[in-house]
Amino acid sequence: MAGEAIVWVDGALSAARDARVSPLDHGLLVGDGVFETLRVYQGTPFAWRRHLERLAQSADGLGLETPDPEMLRGAADAVLQANALEEARLRITVTGGPSPLGSERGSSEPTVIVAAAPAREWPPTERVVVVPWPRNERGAIAGLKTISYAENVRALAYAHEHGATEALFLNTRGDVCEATGSNVFIVSRDRLRTPPPESGCLLGVTRALVLELCEELDIAVDTAVMPGPSLLEADEVFLTSSTREIQPVDAIDDREVPAPGPVSTKLAAAFTALVARDPDP
Ligand SMILES: Cc1ncc(COP(=O)(O)O)c(C=O)c1O
Repeated sequence: MAGEAIVWVDGALSAARDARVSPLDHGLLVGDGVFETLRVYQGTPFAWRRHLERLAQSADGLGLETPDPEMLRGAADAVLQANALEEARLRITVTGGPSPLGSERGSSEPTVIVAAAPAREWPPTERVVVVPWPRNERGAIAGLKTISYAENVRALAYAHEHGATEALFLNTRGDVCEATGSNVFIVSRDRLRTPPPESGCLLGVTRALVLELCEELDIAVDTAVMPGPSLLEADEVFLTSSTREIQPVDAIDDREVPAPGPVSTKLAAAFTALVARDPDP
């Protein structure tokens, strides 16, 4: 990607500088929209089917129309080609479209945006802090991948203010939920644990793939509710997301954790092998 980014908006490719979304777009006004971020390996979006399924679930959850998957695939391929991107992150955003200036959505078609950027290099380990604000596991958008990420923006800024690089949310019951852009796994007393859907976490595509790899590798996983204090017992911690894959954590709050631990090392190798053998697992 040498020059300015080329994006796809509502059916047309253009330079990002020339692309136009209405100032009255409900996504812009109130965060009414859903999105997906996919990792692209060697020009091919990874786990396309799973991401499209989740996009449809998120759109359903907000009462938005899901765009035609074939149109989206054409848009994704066109954007990757126009930007000459092979190792990339690809974002699909669907919003409520032009609307009145309040919470009520207008009757316009959704706005659909497909954009891509070079893949981001993540540090080999992350430092995580638990933020003082809860995730609402009973909220209307719990578990949906909406574009209303202002809470995540605030939480990540809090993490940076506290010398960390990712922020972890507990939910209103004080159970572990998720981080701002990733799911969390811990190993404690030889058990791998990750919060369940009832925690309010987004059901990450990578989380699901890791759970399947654990089955293949005979690694027992406990997805029961994880009370906040269980973090204090963690011998190993890692994050998962489409762009991070499996990323070890070396500290939670002031507590150092050995990283990378043996479980994340094993799973990271298995994940790399999965990517190499199946672009759409
Ligand atoms: C809040 C949140 N949780 C979890 C994840 C991980 O999801 P996935 O593995 O599908 O990328 C993300 C990804 O961006 C996220 O934003």
